[in-house]
Amino acid sequence: MGKLSSLIRAAAGKKRFNSAIILAAGSGKRFSDDTAKQFVEVAGESVLVRSAKAFENSELISEIIVVTRQADVEGCRNILKENGITKTTRVVAGGDTRQKSAKNGFDAVNPACEFVAIHDAARCLVTPEMIEAAMESAYVHGACACATKATDTIKKTDGANSITETVNRDNAWLVQTPQIFMADMYRAAAYMGEKDNVEATDDCALCERLGFKVKLVDVGKTNMKITYPEDIIIAEAILKYREGNK
Ligand code: CTP
Ligand code: MG
Repeated sequence: MGKLSSLIRAAAGKKRFNSAIILAAGSGKRFSDDTAKQFVEVAGESVLVRSAKAFENSELISEIIVVTRQADVEGCRNILKENGITKTTRVVAGGDTRQKSAKNGFDAVNPACEFVAIHDAARCLVTPEMIEAAMESAYVHGACACATKATDTIKKTDGANSITETVNRDNAWLVQTPQIFMADMYRAAAYMGEKDNVEATDDCALCERLGFKVKLVDVGKTNMKITYPEDIIIAEAILKYREGNK
């Protein structure tokens, strides 16, 4: 084994302080006009609590920061406590975009944070194994996001919905969360994104634009996001499928 690879292995085996930021400050417009999807139940447990439990149950996560709407901060603190989430260190208010919510969460992490895992609460079927697969890769490469390879053919279009390009499916992925970064990398990316007025839909994009390489790990399709009401049915079916395959 070369010297460099043994150094990387030693670093990968070290106990680190890692923070999870769970984003739950959206208004879930596509889900409903009046129900916040983060508090809707999937098989008897809320979307937010399901997400939080996955991070609670991963030994690679040291603390959990939850970002909610201002009006939900106090209620969320209670919900997390009542559901046995012990790693919550802060519940903070989000902003009017996902990116601002992520920044607010990042501003609240413990200064000891080495790697930060940013997760959409709405992706409530995430498992400790998925988190750990991305974390192990981030330890080696600096940044890694959960994703799955595209199974449909992906097209790019012009403004009038006419196809302009077929994306090579071998290289086409659908990116999910958690997205995990070395804290210093994400600090630079979030700061530069804000300074340059960039509106990114995920955190990888903030790092990519600075030239940082971000790896993807294929965790499959079951790490789905609750976006529309029918997604609750799909999520419950996936949970049943997982139960049956234990
Ligand atoms: N989110 C957030 N702050 C925002 C917007 C979104 O914390 N200002 C969170 C959501 O709560 C969600 C995640 O980011 O867990 C992914 O966003 P999305 O699925 O788009 O949720 P919403 O923005 O709530 O839904 P919609 O876009 O349908 O309104
Ligand atoms: Mg949204």
